[in-house]
Amino acid sequence: MEYTFTQEAPEKFATDCLIVGIHENGLLSQAATALDHLLGGEITVIVQRGDIEGKPGQTLPLLRPVGQAQRVILVGMGLQGECKAAQFKEAVARAVQVAADLHVKKIGCFLPEIVIKDRNPAWGLEQAIVATEDALYRFDRLKTRTPKRLMPHSCAFAAPQLSETDAKQALIAGQALARAISFAKDLANLPGNMCTPSYLADQARALGTRTGITITVLEESDMQTLGMGALLAVARGSHEPAKLLVLEYRGEGTKAPIALVGKGVTFDSGGISIKPPANMDEMKFDMCGAATVLATVQAAAELKLPINIVGLVPTTENMPGGSAIKPGDIVTSLSGQTIEILNTDAEGRLILCDALTYAERFKPAAVIDIATLTGACVIALGSQAGGLLSNNEALSQELTSAGQTAADRIWPLPLWEEYQKQLDSNFADMANIGGREAGTITAACFLARFTENYPWAHLDIAGIAYKGGKEKGATGRPISLLVEFLRKRAHPT
Ligand code: BES
Ligand code: MN
Ligand code: ZN
Repeated sequence: MEYTFTQEAPEKFATDCLIVGIHENGLLSQAATALDHLLGGEITVIVQRGDIEGKPGQTLPLLRPVGQAQRVILVGMGLQGECKAAQFKEAVARAVQVAADLHVKKIGCFLPEIVIKDRNPAWGLEQAIVATEDALYRFDRLKTRTPKRLMPHSCAFAAPQLSETDAKQALIAGQALARAISFAKDLANLPGNMCTPSYLADQARALGTRTGITITVLEESDMQTLGMGALLAVARGSHEPAKLLVLEYRGEGTKAPIALVGKGVTFDSGGISIKPPANMDEMKFDMCGAATVLATVQAAAELKLPINIVGLVPTTENMPGGSAIKPGDIVTSLSGQTIEILNTDAEGRLILCDALTYAERFKPAAVIDIATLTGACVIALGSQAGGLLSNNEALSQELTSAGQTAADRIWPLPLWEEYQKQLDSNFADMANIGGREAGTITAACFLARFTENYPWAHLDIAGIAYKGGKEKGATGRPISLLVEFLRKRAHPT
């Protein structure tokens, strides 16, 4: 899709479809008011009749020419001045979906003129692009019988409060973010037989070629030499060779980098502690942390953020097999600490702990790991917020507030010392599981033992990275949060 910025008035804008806002209480947006004048008060009549109340996300198509437009979609935007960030995105997405269903080619969207509570107009324009791409996204490349979808191919946004320079900037940022999200969704939606650790390595290399980022791929032999016994332990049951992808983006000389570490289990069967069959297919999404890291680094590079970033992606399958690790096995991590593997399904922490120790060599200013780590997090927070656990209060607040701004929220859980004893083992330095209670916290407690030498935050994205059921698919979360965090770090205000 091609995105542009327009300063044309709505009544003069030649397009297949205009999208304009209607507020609750019968108030029309600026663009709707202009069209209403052109129509001799017809929109006012429609609103007074109650055909559209203006509730956030309601839509009503007017299937007739208005001014230079073939048709108009009216969209509810809530009370004027009260439209919340998430409601704005939802409203844009709904309207674009209606436009797409009508097979329009060219859209003129006036929604970025709407005032969004606690957000500036540039945010609105950026997120309108993100919401549009999100609404139109499908993963149908593996279907052979789908009728060709007639997709809109251009969308012009009006944002009268923005200068042309600021609008252009927001267009660029919005598209970079939307591209990153689509990239991550594509990686995650691809099935486990295609998206293997080797495939992720190829994708990282291609990303390096596209953006100039330095890519290094550590092979199992390198891990052996380094002593990454925990990562290698998980890889043993699989025929697919494990990899550790290292991405280095330099946007600012020699300053200490932010390290992003993403869990890249391309399929999690549970291993010998095999999972029950229901929804096991969804464990192809167990590399969403990896996809988030690749995509976030891509966005940072495209936006040329003046900041240094190291992306680390330990990637492997978790499979049962003759050589697979077994409950009771004890392995030695890169840190030297020994781990008794009581459940081979708690594999994420095993691959992350070696990557987190490896992160030390980059002398990072902060390390953030992103992982679909625990089912317990889905129970605790559902699909609204990711879990946040950190050894640094300032970093924790920075991330929470970035998530708030980006409408991509996470929420803190405690990482108290008292929980650590749940990991006690009679035979090794620690066990890899901590029992039924507080599963998300004990998983983070495990990681905390490998992250003592730098400010660290862990994002458990098991509940937010993908949807199940009819809407099954990756969401692209928490890329918006991380890009927002990095932009703030790059340009502190
Ligand atoms: N990848 C799963 C976590 C997961 C579960 C993500 C459900 C998304 C939805 C992880 O590797 C796992 O299996 N965790 C176990 C840990 C347990 C054995 C301590 C879990 O959550 O059950
Ligand atoms: Mn598992
Ligand atoms: Zn897993």
